Amino acid sequence: MWYQRVQSHLLGQRHSLGHWTEDMRDDALEPAELYNNEFKVVDVGGGTGFTTLGIVKHVDNDNVTLLDQSPHQIEKARQKEALKGVSIMEGDAEDLPFSTDTFDRYVSAGSIEYWPDPQRGIKEAYRVVKPGGLACLIGPVHPTFWLSRFFADMWMLFPSEEEYIEWFTKAGFEDVKLKRIGPKWYRGVRRHGLIMGCSVTGVKRASGDSPLQLGPKAEDVEEPVNLLAFLFRFAIGTICASYYVLVPIYMWIKDQVVPKGQPI
Ligand SMILES: C[S@@+](CC[C@H](N)C(=O)[O-])C[C@H]1O[C@@H](n2cnc3c(N)ncnc32)[C@H](O)[C@@H]1O
Repeated sequence: MWYQRVQSHLLGQRHSLGHWTEDMRDDALEPAELYNNEFKVVDVGGGTGFTTLGIVKHVDNDNVTLLDQSPHQIEKARQKEALKGVSIMEGDAEDLPFSTDTFDRYVSAGSIEYWPDPQRGIKEAYRVVKPGGLACLIGPVHPTFWLSRFFADMWMLFPSEEEYIEWFTKAGFEDVKLKRIGPKWYRGVRRHGLIMGCSVTGVKRASGDSPLQLGPKAEDVEEPVNLLAFLFRFAIGTICASYYVLVPIYMWIKDQVVPKGQPI
């Protein structure tokens, strides 16, 4: 848990690495169908509010809630003028502090890979959405290129597209759909190492809690911090993060060099 917290703090700015850009965000939010400015929307794992900024383009700030477990990230969101009026609060994606059937839309972007139990988080998404409402979860996809896969596995959770669909279906969502996302300059290539990889949506048809039964949440017991283990994981994390900085640069250069219209 402590490692995930440090990591999410360090990596909260992933959009600056070219993996999560404004055009990708807007593309990924499209399946959320934010067509009514009066929708009540929650952005879970909203961090500094990058995705929330995409949401408030469509929905009145007063109807939007940003929830994140990190007070540090939340503080940055609070300082954003464009997010004035948004309700910003601390909380856990796997134990949401909202009543059942509260929101028209649930959005979460780039957060699931830090959740200890993603299925529990998606079950919570189902619970807090109103009947007829929709959840949109944006996250990374397990890479197919062997080196990217190696670093992805060393670093953190990268679910497969099938896992996302299974988690949604088990939680009770219907009309589950998956849209692939990526920076424009990837030209649709997915073999290298996309971090932000898909936007998954599902509709909640009936009111009430998810039909999925899960045991009690594992106790979030503070483990004593082992300095050596911390430094080792920190070093691995830094190497992996560096790799994922280089991949978009490589792909961007390829996009510049290879004639338009040809595959890269
Ligand atoms: C990479 S940032 C993404 C932030 C934002 N959604 C965006 O699109 O830029 C991941 C965020 O997820 C938050 N997070 C991780 N685990 C969480 C949990 N269990 N509950 C709530 N937030 C969580 C982290 O604190 C961090 O702010």
